[in-house]
Amino acid sequence: MPDVTLTTLQELKQKGEKIAMLTAYDATFAQAASQAGADVLLVGDSLGMVLQGHDSTLPVSVADMAYHTAAVKRGNQGALIIADLPFMAYATLEQTFANSAALMQAGAHMVKLEGAAWLAEPIRLLAERGIPVCAHLGLTPQAVNILGGYKVQGRQEAQARQLRADAMALEQAGAAMLLLECVPSELAAEITQSVKIPVIGIGAGSATDGQVLVMHDMLGLSLTGRAPKFVKNFMEGQPSIQAAMAAYVKAVKDVTFPAAEHGFSA
Ligand code: KIV
Repeated sequence: MPDVTLTTLQELKQKGEKIAMLTAYDATFAQAASQAGADVLLVGDSLGMVLQGHDSTLPVSVADMAYHTAAVKRGNQGALIIADLPFMAYATLEQTFANSAALMQAGAHMVKLEGAAWLAEPIRLLAERGIPVCAHLGLTPQAVNILGGYKVQGRQEAQARQLRADAMALEQAGAAMLLLECVPSELAAEITQSVKIPVIGIGAGSATDGQVLVMHDMLGLSLTGRAPKFVKNFMEGQPSIQAAMAAYVKAVKDVTFPAAEHGFSA
């Protein structure tokens, strides 16, 4: 068992203490991030972009995810590990079971799926079989071709209503955590209040129960040279990567990150 469990995260939410999450894709950075105090390491399918150089997460395979999850597990020092099920790895229930099992056997403690209320059935069935699920709502990068780009979600009232309903439905189905990406800060605050499970935000304001950033972004590294609005470069003024990661964790815990300028309005 990791030192940080689902119970720890629930307790942090109840106490109003923030959860710090960072992506990690290999043993060395997993060790650095967990030693810097990250509660959760996310083996994100963002690895398709930041490690593999693709322009989306769609080319990432389950084998890629299992390989990187196993590496993260070897370096991890007590954080909870979440691994992304990549594009089309949960298109059917059979695929969902087999691919979730592969990631759990590689070292994940939870899997993350992108979607909406249609995830209720797979989430319920996975939870019944001992696999906790984080449901990723809002901007879901695997659906970039449906969404028409990497855009803020939930700005229109109908979209916001749908997001609120999806969050409730997925909590009821048994989701252990929600992740909200690029949604207006006020809407994210409302959703966080309305569910009992921890809600992690990225580009979702400071009122969520925790924050996540892609490690490369918070270290100021970018293949495109353009950082999204919700990113802060924590390397600035820091002597080392370890210190930058510790500064990120502290800023999340102190609620000095994200600042208003990192969020989106409705
Ligand atoms: O793949 C990933 O790293 C993610 C984060 C951006 C939340 O899903």
